[in-house]
Amino acid sequence: MAFYVSTPIYYVNAAPHLGHAYSTIGADILARHMRQRGEEVFFLTGTDEHGEPVAQAAESEGVTPKELADRNARHFEDLMPRLDVTNDFFIRTSDSRHEAMVQEILQRVHDNGYVYAGTYEGWYCPRCADFKTETELEEGNRCPIHKIVLEREREDNWFFALSAFQEQLERLYAEQEDFVLPRMRFNEARSFIAQGLNDVSLSRARLTWGVRVPWDESQVFYVWFDALLNYVTALAFARPGEDLVSKFWPADYHVIGKDILKFHAVFWPALLLAAGYELPRHVFVHGFLLMEGEKMSKSLGNVLDPIEVVDRYGSDALRHYCFREVSFGQDGSVSTAGFEARYETELANDYGNLASRTLAMVSRYRDGIVPEADCDSALAVDFDGLAERFSEQLDRAELTAALDEVWQRVRRLNRYVEERAPWQLAKDPERSGELDVTLRSLTEGLRVLTVLLHPYLPQSAGRLLAALGRPDLDLRAARYGDSPGGARVGELEPLFPKR
Ligand code: MSP
Repeated sequence: MAFYVSTPIYYVNAAPHLGHAYSTIGADILARHMRQRGEEVFFLTGTDEHGEPVAQAAESEGVTPKELADRNARHFEDLMPRLDVTNDFFIRTSDSRHEAMVQEILQRVHDNGYVYAGTYEGWYCPRCADFKTETELEEGNRCPIHKIVLEREREDNWFFALSAFQEQLERLYAEQEDFVLPRMRFNEARSFIAQGLNDVSLSRARLTWGVRVPWDESQVFYVWFDALLNYVTALAFARPGEDLVSKFWPADYHVIGKDILKFHAVFWPALLLAAGYELPRHVFVHGFLLMEGEKMSKSLGNVLDPIEVVDRYGSDALRHYCFREVSFGQDGSVSTAGFEARYETELANDYGNLASRTLAMVSRYRDGIVPEADCDSALAVDFDGLAERFSEQLDRAELTAALDEVWQRVRRLNRYVEERAPWQLAKDPERSGELDVTLRSLTEGLRVLTVLLHPYLPQSAGRLLAALGRPDLDLRAARYGDSPGGARVGELEPLFPKR
């Protein structure tokens, strides 16, 4: 089966920060897990390069928007392998193939009767590239996100008849309870629709950095319409000669942050309906990573640099921390101290030490060969149905809950070591069978958990499975007792060394 997951495409007027890494790693965890289930995965990320903020940033630096975009897009593209992100393609909206397809699709929306000429007036935030309603404004006509004072703007442009989709969107939300996840965001989108949809401006007259409106060369498309369409256009040209649209559309998951809910949960399905495409199956909305209670963002100057973290602690540590510390879907605070504490207690101690001890005991007591004994039934109850439950959680993109399921078992195995005290068993030749069972159960339990953990900790999982002599990542192998004893274990440098 095909599985298509996307991240938001990132604005190129800022350098990548942890918030961007967060959306991307979340999508990567889903992509990796689905590959382990044998799905044919297409995982898309990229950069959103048009619009006023980019044009403004370029002007103040004295370069063309395209030059700025080329330079900054590279920072995002380079970030992916550093985070161990396995995207299948990286789309840039300044790619002429994207632009041509945006024109083609929006021409169709126009020809289908959903576009008309009008005048727009409103409070415009250039940083959001969006108009704000009166109720959204903060005191002093400020943007609720960027806190800058907004100007009232008026211009003639083309409109998209969003209101024509009122009933279809209401029906979508009545019939497809998991269209938007988690529930809180579903409710938010549904009540936005219930208040009555207003048409939205589809083009900009003052701007030149964008995709030209094919029926009116004096305007460019509003950056959000150009950007949203990336999810479809990329499929058309990511693999020249291959029709990925029919293979992968509709998308299974668009992973997004809560600030862009309206665009994905309301505008996007309406636009797809207007153009005659099927709707995505799910939009998963995560919360914000906060530092000292504020959203981390370039304009607020409180960013945590993911590259610095990765350089010092490795990408696994960052991936683990983000999804363990903050429940995926909720807001949550992150901090350097919190990061270090989890690195120490969970990665180095709970998991890393368990792995080292287990391998060391197999080497010391059994010459490096995992005994061919039965697996201890005392642990069976902890592993029964685990892979199934974990998969169901990831089907709903509950990345934190799924990780917690596994971590409970990591702790269970640590307790098991203490209960069984293999070092005592090793002193008593009569208890050699018990020691066999203990070592076999530990290696097998560790193997199963590590297969499940692979999407979160791809580096460590790969190293540990290789050291256990059982490198298979297939999720069907993630059953306690499935793999036979007899493997030769290898060397393993500490997975999470002291820093
Ligand atoms: N370009 C648009 C998206 C277009 S998608 C068709 C955009 N770009 S962005 O670079 O500003 O943000 C991209 C993503 O990063 C959003 O999902 C946003 O929620 C996420 N994050 C940015 N800062 C964040 C945090 N501090 N915490 C978590 N994620 C946040 O929006």
